[in-house]
Amino acid sequence: METATQAHREGTPRRVAGKVAVVTGGRGDLGGATARLLADHGARVASLDRAGTPAPASHPGITEYDVDVTDEASVADAVRRLSAELGAPDILVNAAGIIGAAGASHTATVEDFDVIFNVNVKGVWLLTKHVVPAMIEKQAGSIVNFSSIHGLTGGRNVPLYHATKGAVRLLSKCDAAAYGPYGVRVNSLHPGSMNTRMSRRSAEQSDIGPEAYYKQLVGGNPLPRQGEPEEIAYGVLYLASDESRFTTGSELVIDGGYTAV
Ligand SMILES: NC(=O)c1ccc[n+]([C@@H]2O[C@H](COP(=O)([O-])OP(=O)(O)OC[C@H]3O[C@@H](n4cnc5c(N)ncnc54)[C@H](O)[C@@H]3O)[C@@H](O)[C@H]2O)c1
Repeated sequence: METATQAHREGTPRRVAGKVAVVTGGRGDLGGATARLLADHGARVASLDRAGTPAPASHPGITEYDVDVTDEASVADAVRRLSAELGAPDILVNAAGIIGAAGASHTATVEDFDVIFNVNVKGVWLLTKHVVPAMIEKQAGSIVNFSSIHGLTGGRNVPLYHATKGAVRLLSKCDAAAYGPYGVRVNSLHPGSMNTRMSRRSAEQSDIGPEAYYKQLVGGNPLPRQGEPEEIAYGVLYLASDESRFTTGSELVIDGGYTAV
């Protein structure tokens, strides 16, 4: 069956043509689908991920770069290299993230706390810090930060994950406020339960077991199934493109209706 992505490659409108896009977590399930869709719609895409993470099959329009989003020197170096090779970024998608270990707050260690906040929050901030000056100079740009439905609601399984995703939601709104006058938009994206490795891991480590976990997150939803990575990528494409030019500081929830009921 032909996917929507293939159909677009073969001649339908290219919604981010000529733009340079940076996608962190580009070798992951959601970042990878996003990188491919942006490339199929005409962007030159820099896919950034941790050294040693296997890259998916090469794809036209995507260049791979190694980065550790928690390390400022590594982020600065990657942004310098990709800007020299592809041009100054117009789009930044912060999709790198980790779920961390399950367990109530008192069971986590200080190291657990630092690791998850470093990747999920400091990483988003560091990429913004190093990419936004070029956007301010151009007086144009779109930043899309991956939060989660877990950044909108609480839950007892992965409290530190919820806390990091809540932080990403508010950092996005603050940055939207600060950079709007320079033509730079910042929005957060809130996926529900997706058909990905991260979600499988989360189900496996749930204290109620995978079956009950899926039932809770998916079973009672208006659309009672997990989402597919491409269904998130289309949301990013909208926020990244000029079609969303009046949209900033918003929360795009793509969750099959989980948070609606
Ligand atoms: N999968 C879901 O169901 C789901 C739901 C809601 C939100 N999210 C969020 O969406 C984003 C993408 O999730 P995914 O399912 O694609 O996960 P994934 O594990 O497939 O991809 C995450 C990527 O981030 C990279 N990464 C981790 N630490 C890094 C670091 N220090 N430096 C650079 N890269 C690093 C990993 O190598 C990986 O390729 C995450 O922010 C996640 O929290 C996912």
